[in-house]
Amino acid sequence: MNVIFSHPATVELRDQGLCVQLSDGAPHYFNYYWLRDNCPSSFSPMTRERSFDIFHLEAAPRARSAEIEDEALVIVWQDEDHVSRLPVSWLETYATGKPRPDPADLPRVPWYSDHYPSVPRFSQPDLVADSAQRKAWIQALIVSGFCIVTDMPDTDAGLTETAALIGTIRPTFFGDYFDVKTYINPTNTAYTSAALELHTDTPAEEYAPGIQFLHCRANSVQGGQSLYTDGVAVANDFRKRDPEGFKLLSEIAVPFYCEHDTYDMRSRQTVIELDRFGEVSGLTISQHMLDMLDLPQEVLDAYYPAFCRFGRMLQEDKYMMRFLMKAGECMVFDNHRIVHGRAAYSASSGERYLRGCYTDRAEMRSTYRALVSEGRFKHAV
Ligand SMILES: [Fe+2]
Repeated sequence: MNVIFSHPATVELRDQGLCVQLSDGAPHYFNYYWLRDNCPSSFSPMTRERSFDIFHLEAAPRARSAEIEDEALVIVWQDEDHVSRLPVSWLETYATGKPRPDPADLPRVPWYSDHYPSVPRFSQPDLVADSAQRKAWIQALIVSGFCIVTDMPDTDAGLTETAALIGTIRPTFFGDYFDVKTYINPTNTAYTSAALELHTDTPAEEYAPGIQFLHCRANSVQGGQSLYTDGVAVANDFRKRDPEGFKLLSEIAVPFYCEHDTYDMRSRQTVIELDRFGEVSGLTISQHMLDMLDLPQEVLDAYYPAFCRFGRMLQEDKYMMRFLMKAGECMVFDNHRIVHGRAAYSASSGERYLRGCYTDRAEMRSTYRALVSEGRFKHAV
């Protein structure tokens, strides 16, 4: 290996990269391609995109010399008329190969049946008017997965305006919006007042929508309590109570479907969803959209009992939050995390009208990051 010491004891040039001594006193290795590709000049301050194209370098990048100067690593490149200036503090952020810091990576806080009085609530006009309120709202959604927006306008546009504060309306194969409109009429079999079991929405989609909005426009019926359970709280406890069951439900994907005259949507999902850190991030569960389990029958000997143990656990009193939605409120929740359902209600006692739509989780996190920081360009070098 050809080693050149460009600056005594601080920078050591190697064949494919260099070692630089950072503030912890230890040498840290950086690859030349990475250093060249991420030179501050590689990015357009206007578009914030990378404008440099590393595919068009004639030779593999290699430093002719490198030294620390004014808290920056200054690299003179060998086969290119170019000098890079990389702040040491910026190098330290990436020295250990960790992902770029993400302000939307907030720890999830599980909640239980007694959560209703402390559900984060935000007034819709305040959210529209105040970006600090929007930031607090989205932060609460990332952390607890469930919020109530109050003072909603009694219009279709009110829901559109609210959802647009988080992201683009995300259609499903049912359309941009859905109406759960139940004018009580026992002869109309399209609507039902029966209980609705706990579920996440549209599990048959390859990527089910992430954030659900349920705008309560009218609710004067007797009964019909809303049921919400934090899937993260249950699955985290299931992991401790039933490690083998947890393994089956988080590792084996099972089929979901939604089928009618003009569509036949199918997907395979694990019932328990893990994030890239191995932490529970959500659930996919729906008894009415679970397809025939097509796993080997011997696997079902273990899978089905575990699935039922988990399904029963979701309904334990410890976890299930029950309350009556009021007209003018909008439930906003993580459709991958919060399972929801409804108790039966009296079929002749009034009107119940909910209008709903979705946005996506990734767009919610994007909006949050934009509200709390300027990304890497805040620290532009
Ligand atoms: Fe639903």
